[in-house]
Amino acid sequence: MLFKQQAWLRQKLLVLGSLAVGSLLYLVARVGSLDRLQPICPIEGRFGARSQAEVPLRALQFKRGLLHEFRKGNTSKEQVRLHDLVQQLPKAIIIGVRKGGTRALLEMLNLHPAVVKASQEIHFFDNDENYAKGIEWYRKKMPFSYPQQITIEKSPAYFITEEVPERIYKMNSSIKLLIIVREPTTRAISDYTQVLEGKERKNKTYYKFEKLAIDPNTCEVNTKYKAVRTSIYTKHLERWLKYFPIEQFHIVDGDRLITEPLPELQLVEKFLNLPPRISQYNLYFNATRGFYCLRFNIIFNKCLAGSKGRIHPEVDPSVITKLRKFFHPFNQKFYQITGRTLNWP
Ligand code: A3P
Repeated sequence: MLFKQQAWLRQKLLVLGSLAVGSLLYLVARVGSLDRLQPICPIEGRFGARSQAEVPLRALQFKRGLLHEFRKGNTSKEQVRLHDLVQQLPKAIIIGVRKGGTRALLEMLNLHPAVVKASQEIHFFDNDENYAKGIEWYRKKMPFSYPQQITIEKSPAYFITEEVPERIYKMNSSIKLLIIVREPTTRAISDYTQVLEGKERKNKTYYKFEKLAIDPNTCEVNTKYKAVRTSIYTKHLERWLKYFPIEQFHIVDGDRLITEPLPELQLVEKFLNLPPRISQYNLYFNATRGFYCLRFNIIFNKCLAGSKGRIHPEVDPSVITKLRKFFHPFNQKFYQITGRTLNWP
């Protein structure tokens, strides 16, 4: 009998303990998300006249709570809609370039109170099967946001996929397009490193970068190698320019985003007509990672996943020189078209 009572008591204590820990975690999360809402200031320009600052904090808290309930399944979509939360098509898309720093750019822009990111790569415009599901399918993949906020998604495959410019144009011909680029040879090596890591994870062997990037028969740069082709930025951009004027693109310097992110982000804020809200406070250098990490508030900060910022394998310097020489004329053309000179070698 005594043993049964003790077991019952132990069980109760366990339940109470879990409840206490759960509530504590919930409170910490709530404080974090509310803190992110508090600094919302008037959002000027084309993204709407009503500002989040005009909405009383209690109303914002209520809406956040409602969203939380919705995610838990306790609130209907109608109730959420009634309180202004909507799934909006993106007003800006990070279309590429793979390994340019697309994730870092999206996460850093998400520090802005008027920006809401689609966390996953949606691959709507580059994947025929997804595209066939229609624009409503795409919209429903978007996160909930307030009408005054803008949604941004990133799918780096868009930049190099033939059909994408026309498809995006059909959705919104005045959409803003962000392209983050890195020095082409470094980007190609980063691209190779990602594939190599995937092979190693499956215990598969893979060619050396040198063997893929240089054609062994001609000893010239192998333009059939995808990592090389993707780095010929101007070729891809020219396809996009058949649909969109150059003013609708903004080029982000991915190398500078690594070493000095704030000025790059401020240029993007300007391009998106957003009031400047991202500050040095939001970005801190993490010496262990060797990269800038994100600070949302006193409680919440985060670094990008370990798959971002891999150590690259050593590449024969003569191959690097050859590649740089190869990319040089394409880079000059890219600077000329975009009006942004990046001083690549
Ligand atoms: P490496 O892994 O070659 O270093 P993407 O998100 O488009 O795949 O780009 C990945 C690249 O983002 C990484 O390439 C890394 O250099 C770069 N990057 C830029 N800012 C970063 C940051 N703050 N943290 C981690 N990686 C960052």
